[in-house]
Amino acid sequence: MYLKCVFLALFLFVSHIAADDFEETLSHLKPKTTSKTQEDAVLGLIKRSIPNGYKFFLVKVDPNFGPSGKETFQVQKSTTGFVKIVGTTGVAAATGLNYYLKYYCNVQISWEFSQANYLPQNLPEIDVTITLNDRFRYYQNVCTTSYSFVWWQWEDWEKHIDWMALNSFNLILASTGQEAIWERTYKKFNLTQEDVDEHFTGPAFLSWLRMGNMRGWGGPLSSAWHERSIKLQKQILTRMRSFGMLAVLPAFAGHLPRAFKRIYPEAKMTKMDAWNDFNDTYCCPYLLEPTEALFIRIGEAFMKEQIAEFGTDHIYSCDTFNEMDPASSDASYISNIGKATFAAMTTADPKAVWMMQGWLFVHSIIFWTEERAKALLTSVPKGKMIVLDLQSEQYPQYDRLEQYFGQPYIWCMLHNFGGTLGMYGSFDIINENITKARKDNSSTMIGTGLTPEGINQNYVIYDAMTEAAWRTHPHDKKDFFRRYAVRRYGKVNDKAIEAWDILKDSIYNYKGLLKMRGKYAITNTPSLKLAVWTWYNYTDLFDAWDLLLEAADDLKDSPGFLHDLVDVTRQALQVYGDIYYKKLMDAYRIKNINIFSDAAEIFLDIFPDLEKILASNKAFLLGPWLEAARNCGVSLEEKRQFEYNARNQITLWGPKGEIMNYANKQWSGVVTHFFLPRWKVFILSMEVALQKGTTLNEKLVKVKMFKEVEEPFTFDTSKFPTEPQGNTVEIAKYIHDKWRKRVDYNDNIFRKIRIPRASEEEFESDEDSELSPEVLNV
Ligand SMILES: *[C@@H]1O[C@H](CO)[C@@H](O)[C@H](O)[C@H]1NC(C)=O
Ligand SMILES: *[C@@H]1O[C@H](CO)[C@@H](O)[C@H](O)[C@H]1NC(C)=O
Ligand SMILES: *[C@@H]1O[C@H](CO)[C@@H](O)[C@H](O)[C@H]1NC(C)=O
Ligand SMILES: *[C@@H]1O[C@H](CO)[C@@H](O)[C@H](O)[C@H]1NC(C)=O
Ligand SMILES: *[C@@H]1O[C@H](CO)[C@@H](O)[C@H](O)[C@H]1NC(C)=O
Repeated sequence: MYLKCVFLALFLFVSHIAADDFEETLSHLKPKTTSKTQEDAVLGLIKRSIPNGYKFFLVKVDPNFGPSGKETFQVQKSTTGFVKIVGTTGVAAATGLNYYLKYYCNVQISWEFSQANYLPQNLPEIDVTITLNDRFRYYQNVCTTSYSFVWWQWEDWEKHIDWMALNSFNLILASTGQEAIWERTYKKFNLTQEDVDEHFTGPAFLSWLRMGNMRGWGGPLSSAWHERSIKLQKQILTRMRSFGMLAVLPAFAGHLPRAFKRIYPEAKMTKMDAWNDFNDTYCCPYLLEPTEALFIRIGEAFMKEQIAEFGTDHIYSCDTFNEMDPASSDASYISNIGKATFAAMTTADPKAVWMMQGWLFVHSIIFWTEERAKALLTSVPKGKMIVLDLQSEQYPQYDRLEQYFGQPYIWCMLHNFGGTLGMYGSFDIINENITKARKDNSSTMIGTGLTPEGINQNYVIYDAMTEAAWRTHPHDKKDFFRRYAVRRYGKVNDKAIEAWDILKDSIYNYKGLLKMRGKYAITNTPSLKLAVWTWYNYTDLFDAWDLLLEAADDLKDSPGFLHDLVDVTRQALQVYGDIYYKKLMDAYRIKNINIFSDAAEIFLDIFPDLEKILASNKAFLLGPWLEAARNCGVSLEEKRQFEYNARNQITLWGPKGEIMNYANKQWSGVVTHFFLPRWKVFILSMEVALQKGTTLNEKLVKVKMFKEVEEPFTFDTSKFPTEPQGNTVEIAKYIHDKWRKRVDYNDNIFRKIRIPRASEEEFESDEDSELSPEVLNV
């Protein structure tokens, strides 16, 4: 015993990494699948993702390879022979494969497409051994499942789990199918089917049901949906675990259907506050006091049912106070809640570790003083709770909360809200601050993670972030972007490289504290008070756009290039939208009808061009989203319900526009049927006001837009193309020629970039604020 202590002390002294303290409490969090299973999983991945290179790869998984206890990979290839990959886990081996593909073969496998057919004929030589930095690489936000994965079939998941493995993720939220488990649990507590149906939301809104924010909206769920979800979750879990990933399952956070109050009138529960203006039909489930005996009974019943169905890796996600402050601010009360929540987990699984999103500390920074945060964080034994520092690239809390008072945490990049499109990222921060955080004195950081609300945008920033798994020093920024352009397009093209060189220091280098949430003039609800702003010079974007068009003839066969050409053209039109919005408002303010009409004509001309360019690439179409939703339904009625869910989420977000535009999509179909028609209504009303010399009644116009455009869009059932139309390069050239000529670059807008001060968040303070998503939690 004595010897062991000395050894441990020495080890800690030598390593200087406080995270090693958690070896004792977290050592049981490891893959249960055999090395052979993990090898086979990686071979399967290779077969799927690089079919023509498959026969050149050998894979070995050996948990004892490399420095003990740390995940490591080795990739070797001599002049002749195979590419030999060794990994301590399947995930480590897949990470090694991706390292080889990215940095030796210039091949990118991203969310939207793969460049694997550009694999060189003669596979390059390599001899590299790399030990990963941290214990965990975490992936997913509680919202990703609703914004991005909701309509996915197994084929989509399979591809995505391959991507997770390639990018080193070993700790993954696995939330599919939990409503089926909840339904069984609720029925054990004597709820009727009616009680359950009233509670469950539709598929597109499950994330917020799960967090206790809302109930019933877009629901109910059918038994077919439950069966489908259970089956899917089993496939997902089996595949994840076969790579050696750990699945994070949900636990009971205390939120209950209303019916519990009727059945258990004695139990202490409080109705939750309304969330984002959802009315009583759709808001406010009950929150059961964690200290009630019933809490442990329900928590245990749910956990047991879940474990029986899905097995467990002993780590559970649980967020009680997501956007809901505790009923009392008393430290001992808060501490008791933490204890009771954890007890409900350990009663069913004595090895349980609690994973908590640290978002509450950001969202309710006033309530969560250091003292109260400490009470919650230390209510659980040290090392039995893992905190996700959810948006470390903008609002990190690990410093303010003193390394979470000793609890381990994961440094996460959240980046995206609502799955909106729009180019941005904070490259320097993720590049530099992670390494610093890891080296902080007494750092309790045990991993890095990605927590985007939605994927399929800004791939570059995710590509950079995942390398935090193995990079010991910050990227050479210029070199990173250069290589990125080469592997994404499958070819060296100097113009494309130069374009990315410009983007890296402008669009992708946001450092401010203002929220970037996909709201632009063209996507927002028309209003006289929109605050459009950027942190980069518009001209930087236009310069990059010019360069990509110069590269277009050379790269016209690259799927990555075509995707980005659409995206950058989209971004340019989005910026023109902001520019002409300002002109429109200026003309309106000085009541000059002629200038107004000219600006209006140009502003409205953006939309058909935007529609055209988006329609040319499958990643930017409304059709597939709606079709995928319908495909999940088993009856005509259910197909209708799911299509409504799909349409509502990306527009009104609630029956009456409760969170309007929050998850808006710059997609072909949305532009023509939603963004454009409502702007037409608004601009026409402005024009009439100008002509008559009256003031615009914005409230009335809002109602009109809602009645004539916004709500009908959600009820509509017309079909949209599921395949792209038109030639991207030709369309982009046409739009570029037309718009580059149109704008007067001597205009003040291009000389004076206006960066608003933090206190000046007009989006947040205008009359829309009660509908603002800023109160919405992830
Ligand atoms: C459900 O109702 C039955 C009959 O009233 C009762 O015996 C049982 O205890 C109830 N179950 C729970 C979990 O309360
Ligand atoms: C809530 O809103 C829905 C949709 O607008 C409506 O049908 C329902 O009656 C409202 N419920 C309450 C309690 O006002
Ligand atoms: C990143 O690090 C810099 C330098 O230490 C610091 O000023 C900045 O606040 C950090 N940003 C974030 C979001 O942590
Ligand atoms: C690191 O933390 C320890 C203990 O809290 C303290 O004694 C020491 O001075 C700190 N070192 C630095 C460089 O801050
Ligand atoms: C914008 O461009 C001007 C002139 O080239 C330059 O001085 C300024 O630093 C740029 N601003 C940003 C935010 O890049």
